[in-house]
Amino acid sequence: MRLLSQLPIDELSTKTVIVRLGFNVPIDKDGHIIDNFRIKSALPTLKLLSEHAKQVIIFSHIGRGRDETLAPVAHELQRDFTGLHFTQWRDLQPALQEHRLILVENIRQDPRETSRDIKDREALVEDILRLVGRDQSIFVQDAFSVCHRRHASIVDLPRFLLSYAGLLLEQEVKQLTEAINPPEPSLFILGGAKFATKEPLIRKFLKTYDKIFIAGAIANEFFKERGYEIGRSLVYDAKIPHDILYNKRVVLPNQVLVADADGHTIYISPDNLMPDMRIVDVVLPQDLLKVNANDVSYMLWNGPLGYYEGGYTKGTESLLNILSKSKVEAITGGGDTLATIGESNRPIFTYISVGGGAMLKFLQDGQLPGIEALN
Ligand code: 3PG
Repeated sequence: MRLLSQLPIDELSTKTVIVRLGFNVPIDKDGHIIDNFRIKSALPTLKLLSEHAKQVIIFSHIGRGRDETLAPVAHELQRDFTGLHFTQWRDLQPALQEHRLILVENIRQDPRETSRDIKDREALVEDILRLVGRDQSIFVQDAFSVCHRRHASIVDLPRFLLSYAGLLLEQEVKQLTEAINPPEPSLFILGGAKFATKEPLIRKFLKTYDKIFIAGAIANEFFKERGYEIGRSLVYDAKIPHDILYNKRVVLPNQVLVADADGHTIYISPDNLMPDMRIVDVVLPQDLLKVNANDVSYMLWNGPLGYYEGGYTKGTESLLNILSKSKVEAITGGGDTLATIGESNRPIFTYISVGGGAMLKFLQDGQLPGIEALN
């Protein structure tokens, strides 16, 4: 994989750069950005390119609807990059004559970006290259969060131009490759929901992690499969194979916070639920950061520990508290997990991945289509 970090600056200064960035950020109903973490994470690459390349054309997507716009992202970027010009796809040609730094509107507004038919996607790439020109153009991929998608700006563009991994993508690959083979003793904390979608990852990490702590709604599935009453707790019907359900490396919460039908809460053992109760949060085991009396040196965490949207965040707060006092190398990522952490607690972590689905897929496969396409 060619790295932007290794491209000599004087060579970069002769190039027009098409760069794919991951600006799929949450937006509220008034059009304000709720969390700009992904924008901040893209800045090192964007600064490098905007300072040294001849011209920079940024492609990105936002949301899933055809009418969603990158306008809020453009406004935020224009604070740091005063010369940044935001253009509709159809106005790219005149914009190229006048501006050095251009952000093109949501590429998913063009249905060819996400088409399953490679001919459609290639036609989009050819349209882009007809406007931008191929001579002296290079492609930089820095949208790690989208590299699990087989879209035109992810897997096809790099087949047409000399291509480089941006600074963020380089970091993500380095950090998540270490997460696949963690230093010992290691702990994997898995929250969120749907055991079935996480089973391959659990199975893989049972071989490489010393301990896997299961929390969130996935823990409810384990409780149910072990035959406990789980009342009205959120649960998906999954069959958990015996070798995972009773695996010695799998740790389940031994205390949970439950709410009854009136919303009253109480901490109890998970095998003591009444039918009208539901589990809303977990208590962390005392020795969570220990393996056989040794301190865990590496921890990977993905997925909310409790029902945080309902305000049940005590489990998460105690994890953050423990981490802030420990020396553990702590890695996390994923939109839901980030939302539960809060901005002021981010420095507790050694590394936070911008990827949600992409992070999980990379951990599972050790590779992603958008990264393979760069080779
Ligand atoms: C993400 O937010 O995880 C990426 O931007 C991918 O978005 P998508 O799930 O809409 O493809």
